Amino acid sequence: MKTLWGKPVAEEIYLRLEEETARYIQSTNHAPYLAVILVGSDPASSSYVSMKEKACDRLGFDHATYRFDESVSEEKLLSLLSKLNDDPKVDGILVQLPLPDHLDAAKILETISPLKDVDGFHPVNVGNLLLGNPSLVSCTPLGILKMLEYYEIETAGKHVVVVGRSNIVGKPIAALLFQKGWDATVTICHSKTRNLRGITSLADILIVAIGQPLLITPDHVKEGAVIIDVGINRIEDAGRARGYRLVGDVDFEHVASKTTAITPVPGGVGVMTVAMLMNNTLQAAKKRRNEAEILA
Ligand code: GUN
Repeated sequence: MKTLWGKPVAEEIYLRLEEETARYIQSTNHAPYLAVILVGSDPASSSYVSMKEKACDRLGFDHATYRFDESVSEEKLLSLLSKLNDDPKVDGILVQLPLPDHLDAAKILETISPLKDVDGFHPVNVGNLLLGNPSLVSCTPLGILKMLEYYEIETAGKHVVVVGRSNIVGKPIAALLFQKGWDATVTICHSKTRNLRGITSLADILIVAIGQPLLITPDHVKEGAVIIDVGINRIEDAGRARGYRLVGDVDFEHVASKTTAITPVPGGVGVMTVAMLMNNTLQAAKKRRNEAEILA
């Protein structure tokens, strides 16, 4: 059994991005610029946003974080988004999810310019992804692909079972892996799937992103499968100073010995997401600038 750590994969990506960013800044005299919008004070969201800020600083990106109270109006966010869309120095815009219930998340995400949508959540980018066209791709699925490449996990002709149908992970990773080049046969399971373990047991590669701590136990897993665990769940743990610990959607402790390779939580896919956000921001900057040059 091999543990698929995210750190070496993310480090390799950061080294490439450092070089690419330095070249970009030298040739354009502009740093890539990421704008992040954070609503409310959810501790997990705040901690993700601070990881994004640190990653920008490491690479030399410019960035701004717009923080709003939980009660912010939709109009206020929409008007900020249209300002950022029109601002030529802004390359990437990210609205941290989840948003409070009184805000229409779909409407907000659709307001972001598809060219600046570094999360890859805009319907135009999702549509292009499904069609197999170039697009900005959601960061966690892109991180999973980079891990599969780095660890040389073959997907062609393999049966990939995805557990979870979220717009952020389940749908896009499924839609990526059946494209030409990845060539997997993909099954999607979700909360209403009957006989979940019967289906997950058929997986050569099992990708779990459903947000249910320790859902996947040894009887869900075929001997020799590869498991990618995207879940990051806080569960109470009185033995820890902070009162909780992080676990995945997979019961790593009991499942690992049945697999040929498995991602740990924490330390697996999680560290890839921010690296891919930086990648998307730089690609968005390059593309917009190239198009501006072509039009000039
Ligand atoms: N919340 C959980 N994952 C994500 C993500 O990838 N992007 C954003 N914007 N919010 C999230």
